[in-house]
Amino acid sequence: MTTSLKPKDENIVWHQHSVDKEFRANIKSQKPAVLWFTGLSGSGKSTVAGALETRLAQLGYHTYLLDGDNVRHGLCSDLGFSEQDRRENIRRIGELAKLMADAGLIVLSAFISPHQAERKLVRDLLPEGEFLEVFVNTPLEICEQRDPKGLYKKARAGEIPNFTGISSVYEAPENPEIDLLAGDKSLDELVDQCVASLKERGVLAS
Ligand code: ADX
Repeated sequence: MTTSLKPKDENIVWHQHSVDKEFRANIKSQKPAVLWFTGLSGSGKSTVAGALETRLAQLGYHTYLLDGDNVRHGLCSDLGFSEQDRRENIRRIGELAKLMADAGLIVLSAFISPHQAERKLVRDLLPEGEFLEVFVNTPLEICEQRDPKGLYKKARAGEIPNFTGISSVYEAPENPEIDLLAGDKSLDELVDQCVASLKERGVLAS
């Protein structure tokens, strides 16, 4: 196995331990995966990812949910919302998700992750088929109507700079593995759609 980035110090060498990813995943009787939820603020990423995690846990799968708002209180608390900081945010989460998949887990991540390039970067960290992009495809108008945290209102009033969808770009996925029309469907329907797709793709046993 190789690391994604070369260490700055050439004397740092990758150590291959004998208990490896496959071994850990086999103990859990599951296939590791990263389910990468992307979408606007208020689109329902955390809600759908949380409900899917509950469903997976009930089925006996070992999961971990990484959530933008929570991670920004800890690992990424030093980062803001400039283009550069968002890139670093996603880079760190990508590396973390990769480690968690290496631990044998099914990782669910819920970050706006507005740029195609960063999402591709994370995809490329993982083996083919292990990164599944889940587009929480809720139109901006609906997200703004919902405005669960009152942030759109503040952004429209010019109180939050670089707000995604208002004063900062969101690049929708072109070819997501799972496309959720989250403005139109119930939470149960959305979770069912995810489970069906994960079965089809062999991530979950059918
Ligand atoms: S990302 O763009 O770097 O992927 P992330 O998912 O971690 O964003 O954080 C998004 C959350 O931060 C939003 O749900 C919202 O609650 C909050 N937030 C605060 N400022 C902004 C902003 N300028 N743009 C978008 N979300 C913001």
